[in-house]
Amino acid sequence: MNKWDKKAKNYSRYGEDKDRFENRIFDALDSLHVEFQDKTLLDIGCGTGVYTLHLAKKCSHIDGIDSSKEMLEVLKEDAKKLNLTNTDTLHIGWDSFTCKEVYDYALCTMSPAIREDRDLEKMTKCAKTKIYLGWAGKRETHIIEALFKAHGSSYSPPNGAKKVKEWLNKNSKFYQVIPFDEEKIRTREFDEAVENFEWHLDVRGLKPDKKKIVEVLEKFRDKENCITETTINHFNLIVW
Ligand SMILES: C[S@@+](CC[C@H](N)C(=O)[O-])C[C@H]1O[C@@H](n2cnc3c(N)ncnc32)[C@H](O)[C@@H]1O
Repeated sequence: MNKWDKKAKNYSRYGEDKDRFENRIFDALDSLHVEFQDKTLLDIGCGTGVYTLHLAKKCSHIDGIDSSKEMLEVLKEDAKKLNLTNTDTLHIGWDSFTCKEVYDYALCTMSPAIREDRDLEKMTKCAKTKIYLGWAGKRETHIIEALFKAHGSSYSPPNGAKKVKEWLNKNSKFYQVIPFDEEKIRTREFDEAVENFEWHLDVRGLKPDKKKIVEVLEKFRDKENCITETTINHFNLIVW
């Protein structure tokens, strides 16, 4: 089973609350004069459509691709609720996708689909303007650090943005970067937290040991049988 399929049911999905992180990204893109009205867009690793479905209200057409079928099912369900008919989804990995047109925009938010030089080369050819949002070397979380330690490993925060900037510099591409900090507080029921952290360790290449996970999480369990995780994150929004 695709690892992201397991995540789909608990992954964040389209929402309209004003304080959502996506709104900060849309404001930042606005400040860079990135205009989506009547434009075409390819969303790489679109997931449940957290960004896609907002942009579909402005774009003429969006193709969203993702290697997780379950993520796309959520996107399609929400697109239907919103009566959005200009968004097509394709269940495919970025490696296997053939780009048949030059889009106005290619977007990749928080997805490991874009991580190698060849991914960046392909993304760059697919569209006139490219937008990448990714981790930039800071994800402070006591729980994940403790879990990695319990599994005999040490946690290093993801830094996809560094790779993108290195590639852009190496290829003498002009680009703009906007940094973002975020404090995220998430409370989960104990069993849901166990499942979530098992998934997290698995996706980071460790073999999750449920007994060890429960032992670590016991230290963070509150009176309501919940685990509250606070993470301090740093991201880069990169446009080229
Ligand atoms: C953290 S989610 C981000 C989803 C969405 N872009 C967002 O910002 O909410 C990562 C997504 O990338 C997808 N993904 C991972 N590797 C991929 C690949 N090689 N090709 C296409 N999609 C991929 C996963 O299935 C998942 O839906």
